[in-house]
Amino acid sequence: MKHLLKLSDLTTAEITDILNLADQLKFEKKHSIKHHYLEGKTLGMIFSKSSTRTRVSFEVGMYDLGGHALFLSANDLQIGRGEPVEDTARVLSRYLDGIMIRTYAQSEVEMLAQYGSIPIINGLTDYCHPCQILADLLTIREHRGTIAGNKLCYIGDGNNMANSYIVGGIKMGMDVTVACPKGYEPDAEIMKWAYESGHFNCTTNVLEAAENADVVCTDVWASMGQESEAAMRREIFKGYCVNNEVMERAKNDAMVLHCLPAHRGEEIMADVFEAHANEIFDEAENRLHAQKAVLVMCMGNK
Ligand code: CP
Ligand code: NVA
Repeated sequence: MKHLLKLSDLTTAEITDILNLADQLKFEKKHSIKHHYLEGKTLGMIFSKSSTRTRVSFEVGMYDLGGHALFLSANDLQIGRGEPVEDTARVLSRYLDGIMIRTYAQSEVEMLAQYGSIPIINGLTDYCHPCQILADLLTIREHRGTIAGNKLCYIGDGNNMANSYIVGGIKMGMDVTVACPKGYEPDAEIMKWAYESGHFNCTTNVLEAAENADVVCTDVWASMGQESEAAMRREIFKGYCVNNEVMERAKNDAMVLHCLPAHRGEEIMADVFEAHANEIFDEAENRLHAQKAVLVMCMGNK
């Protein structure tokens, strides 16, 4: 695996290899077994958007692996003043061993990979959030024993998270349903691919989507970059909320995932969040383990 640009680039076997390596790395960390698979390597982390989990888990992950991480705010780089991505990619390839980037356009991530000569890892774009879904798959496997055969239901905006849940979920053998308001569906090409798999449905009906679900997921109604639409979206998305009524439709032992940050009273009610906090914070922890696996696969000799 050279890069992690989007989940649709990966095979089911590659995703499984990442999850298995993540389990190993998690075990090694828990038992203080040294795992310096990236000794002497440096990761550049370019951020055009805010982050808590992604920034901290990548930085700690590189330290755990014996390497080093550099935080690069896009505002402080020349890229923020218009230096072309093509040039930035070629320059940074001369200094670094890998780049993690969080930005708006997926094309920027793809361009870095095209012009650079080092591994590029997508730390979230408007289109997808592959690192998050790898952590979610790891969490589902830990809590439910297997991934394939589960039904995953996503309620809310057809955004980067929805796109990645669809691709990652179906590739790993889950049935995926999405409930979102009309006009806020996930990416059209991803939905076409998903419908062709025979394991997908998109509806405006939240309760129908949640029926018999093993995993119930949601995400914010207004993503980073959509702050000016937040008030309008609060009206449009009313009802697209993981509440007790939704959980009653899901299986009795259904788990709840939220990539965080969460807006209680909007996409998830506080009581549901707290009842499933154990799963949600395992999910947040698993960002670290899943990403370390991605780093080793892309930047190491494994
Ligand atoms: N879930 C997630 O990507 O969190 P951050 O925005 O804090 O990195
Ligand atoms: N959809 C959210 C995810 C944050 C991790 C956003 O893009 O802001």
